[in-house]
Amino acid sequence: MQRIGILTGGGDCPGLNPVIRAVVKRAQLDNWQVLGFRNGWRGMIDDDYIMLDAQSVSGILPKGGTILGTSRTNPCKKASDLEKVRSTFNKHNLKALIAVGGEDTLGAAYKLFQEGLKVVGVPKTIDNDLNATDYTFGYDTALNIAMECIDRLHTTAESHNRVMVAEIMGRHAGWIALEAGIAGGADIILIPEIPIDLDQVCDLIKKRHARGKTFSIIAVAEGAHLKDQGLVANDKLDQFGHMRLGGIGQFIGTLIEQRTGYETRVTVLGHIQRGGSPSAFDRVLGTRFGVKAVELVKAEKFGHMVSLQGRNIVDVSLAEAIGQLKTVPPDLYEMAQLFFG
Ligand code: F6P
Repeated sequence: MQRIGILTGGGDCPGLNPVIRAVVKRAQLDNWQVLGFRNGWRGMIDDDYIMLDAQSVSGILPKGGTILGTSRTNPCKKASDLEKVRSTFNKHNLKALIAVGGEDTLGAAYKLFQEGLKVVGVPKTIDNDLNATDYTFGYDTALNIAMECIDRLHTTAESHNRVMVAEIMGRHAGWIALEAGIAGGADIILIPEIPIDLDQVCDLIKKRHARGKTFSIIAVAEGAHLKDQGLVANDKLDQFGHMRLGGIGQFIGTLIEQRTGYETRVTVLGHIQRGGSPSAFDRVLGTRFGVKAVELVKAEKFGHMVSLQGRNIVDVSLAEAIGQLKTVPPDLYEMAQLFFG
């Protein structure tokens, strides 16, 4: 009997379980066994896996997170780990490994593919910053959560005459902040792609309040930064060298209160955006991605990733997907600016 492996790496997000379920169901059609490696690449390094069958994926469709666990382990950091991944792959005589993840997990998948491993990728991240796919699953759920938070902040901001800053996830790209800000009617949106001009922000708030508005909502992505200043983060780095971000909301909130005189409060949405049940869109996208990933294995399209283009699920090379990040285009931000202030 043929065997394939699957792992989920990087930050978790809603929609991972629908992918796992779809991979198992589609593999069953060909009578393939599925090994689920636990905790991202760590499972391949340690040969830590569970057998996945119809029973083990039953009921997981609406559940957030991942039944396999995840980690930010980088299998390419040490040559010995890379060898362990290869040895696990060979030991189980895997036909292929399906790696579900974002830029880091898929970057590692691509390196392993170049080293001769048969790998297929599935794009995941709430940040929606992976290239060569219109959307990653997880994004839609996070976007709707962030929008609902902005809605909720509106009513309390209005009651108290306050400026409310909502710090929203988005490391390199401001997709969630931008689209939740547009959908929720934020008065100012700040994203990593455009350095923050605090004079302009305070000016907009003052003008808005001079017009009679008594509150303002600011959506800021955690990766946004002031002109001439670095990211607001603590000094912890993950295995891929990324800083742990957080704090830009409080940082600008304090300055806004000082400069405008308006009482300002800060809400950090944090991991609330990654938790809980996937939206219908993410369940369907995850399901379609999972089925297509097994079909890519069958077609021996290794080194490729499933992708959503328009309404179609297609495949693209991993090299194209990880070559650059998909950031917010300037014209979309300009459109959003029409509604500022
Ligand atoms: O990459 C997705 C993401 O949620 C980013 O938006 C955020 O910066 C990061 O993961 C947080 O990672 P962790 O859960 O490891 O703190």
